[in-house]
Amino acid sequence: MQLEGAVITWLGHASFLVETPGGKSIVIDPWLSDNPKCPDQYRNLDRADLILISHGHFDHMGSAADLAKRTGAPVISNFEIGSYLADQGVQNTIGMNKGGTVAVGDIKVTMVHADHSSGITTTEGTTVYGGEAGGFVVTLENGLTLYHAGDTNVFSDMTIIRELYAPDIALLPIGGHFTMSPKEAAYAVKLLRPKMVIPMHYGTFDALTGTPDALMDLLAGEPVEVNALQPGGQCR
Ligand code: NI
Ligand code: MN
Repeated sequence: MQLEGAVITWLGHASFLVETPGGKSIVIDPWLSDNPKCPDQYRNLDRADLILISHGHFDHMGSAADLAKRTGAPVISNFEIGSYLADQGVQNTIGMNKGGTVAVGDIKVTMVHADHSSGITTTEGTTVYGGEAGGFVVTLENGLTLYHAGDTNVFSDMTIIRELYAPDIALLPIGGHFTMSPKEAAYAVKLLRPKMVIPMHYGTFDALTGTPDALMDLLAGEPVEVNALQPGGQCR
């Protein structure tokens, strides 16, 4: 499928840069500086107009405060993570919760459910309550709709996500251990029915053993394109 002016770049693990048809840069789940899969040219990313955080784990928000301070971009997250980041000195936080939609210019961001946890591990090694894990449905200026699932197991309310938002592209974790493996992700695709799925959250650590090939085998014959990007790879 064609993205008609949008460009999606996989920054490794669950981190994505979405450049919109209106010229905005959205960074989802920024874990850049010490993400072993992040290409070097993105480790100190200095452009973002909007930052989204799905949950409080380090591999989804490890670079969020730095990126927000460098760029001044607003950070959308659940309410608790927003409060935590404000305490860390992030100026522009937008705390929200599931079912809500925030409009930033002509871009709409809806927070949806995820079946996962969200505790924030501090530099002192304690865990701070980070609200509930979520995912995001992002509708771009041209109507293209993306679903970033965050970290999650499959859940039957993905049917509601399809019926309410009909995402064109689903960014789904497939690594297993902490999230869905290809078996659950293939079931998720059958509930969501996107035109394209981009696998993520695999191969970063030894425990994340799911592969795009396994997902493709499970979806053989289904009307969906599995687009297995390399880190730094783009879809446009
Ligand atoms: Ni997680
Ligand atoms: Mn994770």
